[in-house]
Amino acid sequence: MNVTMRGLLRPVILIRCHMDLSSNIVVLTGAGISADSGVATFRDSGGIWAKYDYREVATPEGYAANPTLVHEFYNLRRSGLNEVEPNAAHQALAKLEIAMADAGGSLTLVTQNVDDLHERGGSKSVWHMHGELRKVRCTACGQIRHWQQDLSLKTECPACHALGTLRPHIVWFGEMPMLMDEIAEAIANADQFVSIGTSGSVYPAAGFVGEARSLGIPCMEINLEPSENAYLFDAAFYGPAAEQVPLWVERLLSSVSR
Ligand code: APR
Repeated sequence: MNVTMRGLLRPVILIRCHMDLSSNIVVLTGAGISADSGVATFRDSGGIWAKYDYREVATPEGYAANPTLVHEFYNLRRSGLNEVEPNAAHQALAKLEIAMADAGGSLTLVTQNVDDLHERGGSKSVWHMHGELRKVRCTACGQIRHWQQDLSLKTECPACHALGTLRPHIVWFGEMPMLMDEIAEAIANADQFVSIGTSGSVYPAAGFVGEARSLGIPCMEINLEPSENAYLFDAAFYGPAAEQVPLWVERLLSSVSR
């Protein structure tokens, strides 16, 4: 295990990191937390953006130009969810959510991931800032609904019966991520900010650590390797999320029960 402590705020961090379960933690997760479940990340070698041009499959312009290609891309990723299971990192966060709620604290789980592995790992409240693979939205009537099947231009909206108007409920590049006001408020009220499995290269999520740090909130990263904004974190644990997240949660739970 590789543990590093950084930053000028070190003495403050050492005090504030000894928090109890009645405190508020905001956790941001990215593709790295699902990597150990077999879900591809975006920017690692062989990742999704090495195989697809994001401008073609993950922008409003790409969808306008070739909706069938975009549907095929998300159909593949949606059906791929049937092949994967949550890992120990997802489960550990679910365990921590319950322990903190029982103790009068809160764990706000914000994810950039569009998979449903946090929910299947047991988390009750998950803020999907980039949308969800298993939801669709009708561009005609606006209804959002759970969706398991493939989408095509022949798919009819069950609400308004328009044809070909259902799109993945996914935030594409150039679109505004969801729940931004709620996330800002949660960070402002946090006692610790923890980033797990994200490269820190996509804003606004990559800016959360800066927001937290400017408020004097201790920030910790758990990742396979230092992220692009690793220098902003006060503490870091490097290694696979499925190992490091359960270790962190167990340390937190045992330090409290002692
Ligand atoms: N455990 C922990 N971290 C891991 C693991 C692992 N097993 N495997 C990879 N990682 C780390 C990588 O080192 C990298 O820093 O996870 C990070 C994944 O980074 P990205 O592929 O860039 O994914 P993410 O940060 O979630 O991307 C953000 O970009 O394209 C958009 O909308 C997409 O939500 C996504 C956003």
